[in-house]
Amino acid sequence: MRYIGSKTRILDFINDTVSQTYGSVNGAVVADLFAGTCSVAELFKKQNAQIITNDYLHFSYALQIAKIKCNEEPQSKIPYCEALSYLNGLDGVDGFFFKEYTLEGTSTSQYSRNYFDSENARKIDAICVQLASWLRDKTISEDMFYLLSASLVDAITKVSNTSGTYGAFLKIDDQRKYKPLKLLPYQFIDNGQVNEAYCMDISELIDKISGDILYLDPPYNGRQYPPYYHILETAVLYDEPAIYGITGRRPYQELLSPFCMKDKALPAMINIVQRAKFKDIYISYSTDGIMDYKELCDALSVVGDVKCFFKPYRRYKSNNGGENTTTKVKEIMIYVKKR
Ligand SMILES: C[S@@+](CC[C@H](N)C(=O)[O-])C[C@H]1O[C@@H](n2cnc3c(N)ncnc32)[C@H](O)[C@@H]1O
Repeated sequence: MRYIGSKTRILDFINDTVSQTYGSVNGAVVADLFAGTCSVAELFKKQNAQIITNDYLHFSYALQIAKIKCNEEPQSKIPYCEALSYLNGLDGVDGFFFKEYTLEGTSTSQYSRNYFDSENARKIDAICVQLASWLRDKTISEDMFYLLSASLVDAITKVSNTSGTYGAFLKIDDQRKYKPLKLLPYQFIDNGQVNEAYCMDISELIDKISGDILYLDPPYNGRQYPPYYHILETAVLYDEPAIYGITGRRPYQELLSPFCMKDKALPAMINIVQRAKFKDIYISYSTDGIMDYKELCDALSVVGDVKCFFKPYRRYKSNNGGENTTTKVKEIMIYVKKR
């Protein structure tokens, strides 16, 4: 899945930094508390660490259950594969996704929205209604609900008429829009450990957990995540939110992250590190992030010994008064050994 700030492409750098400084993570308790798509948590799960994940978005929680918490399919009245084929065989219904996110459904509304083909949107509605009903009558457990929702999230990303995020839909149809929506099963990773998943604001969770390694991958810039992934959030919650504007976003005032605000990011990060009951802390960041990484390292040195690791990562073009310059942006890992 394409995700802003995903670490999929720099897993080697993260792994090398941790093995150079900490050693083997086998058997260690590793927390990834801005888990997003869980790429980093998965890296350490494969090395038999015991994992704790968290993210304040529910669609990430669904991915956490599928990729991290489950070592095998959860107990349920309907076995996993049977549930998936039942959901894949459902007839579509005219629900929230059809009415709000398709050209046909919005044809008489103030805003015309083109996120999905009508058939796929109807299918999403039918699946969401069925999942909610199964959860309500306890045909499926909560873990099974989120595991199936994770397959729905993945399936939605493959048929969305967007460029990857849900900040906007495409004006011209992408071929993806016409692929039929299909839920696929997850292949479980069994690390033989009891792993935990949370869907909380990190500042509410940090005092409640402890372990060996804490990995923090906060947002780098002012872009709040909820408006970019609102459709995936609504697919998991299916709560018919009071969406607004041409993009049909869910309200997200309650979810404004301090890590996306220039004046709040640094104190928020220092606060988390101070309160963390972990000795070895790694922060992924970027040299062009909204926190000045040198200031961050200075502030962290009050809490522990700090080392910075750099990886030349990407370049971006900036347009300086008509002159195109290419700037090197470095991906960094800040390692704090807490005193
Ligand atoms: C840079 S992304 C993490 C990407 C992840 N490492 C991956 O590879 O997919 C940052 C994540 O932090 C989450 N987030 C932002 N503020 C948060 C907060 N206050 N509490 C918990 N999660 C938060 C966002 O939802 C987003 O998924």
